[in-house]
Amino acid sequence: MAETTSRKFTRVMGILEENNHDPARLIPILQQVQEDYRYLPEDVMTFIATSLDLPPSHVFGVATFYAHFTLIPKGKHIIRLCDGTACHVRGSEHILNALHQKLKLSSAKHTTDDMLFTVECVSCLGACGLAPVMVLDEKVHSKMTPENAINLIDKILEVESGGVTSAENEKKEEAVA
Ligand code: FES
Repeated sequence: MAETTSRKFTRVMGILEENNHDPARLIPILQQVQEDYRYLPEDVMTFIATSLDLPPSHVFGVATFYAHFTLIPKGKHIIRLCDGTACHVRGSEHILNALHQKLKLSSAKHTTDDMLFTVECVSCLGACGLAPVMVLDEKVHSKMTPENAINLIDKILEVESGGVTSAENEKKEEAVA
């Protein structure tokens, strides 16, 4: 446990070093920490505040102000399903139901127990002509169907279980998208 904790802080120390411990770079620092940890752990934010000689309330204030930041752990793969008007009319709800069923999630539970997937509903992504739209790990998938969404999940599960390489999976994903 002690080793895990020390490794946790070694990572944030590296990020602070890269940013010259510059308090003016708080947002890029938090962005890097979130990329690395997939969320902003409370103890890491306190550590950042102390290291940058900033009040912890300021660091927490910035972290909670921007919607981009999350204080809750998220899964390795983030699925953002658009539920704006155009996507909703074209069946995004059926895709959401299929994802929830497949991953044993619900509107109250967004992340799988194994921390592999997080499913979020978002408002219009600005690509209504491609509705329904789903973003998986920052890649946009257009005109989605429940079947295609499940296929994408299955491909990731194959890679995660060591069945195929991620490069092979990308080819398969392109076929699905
Ligand atoms: S409503 Fe989904 S992209 Fe606009």
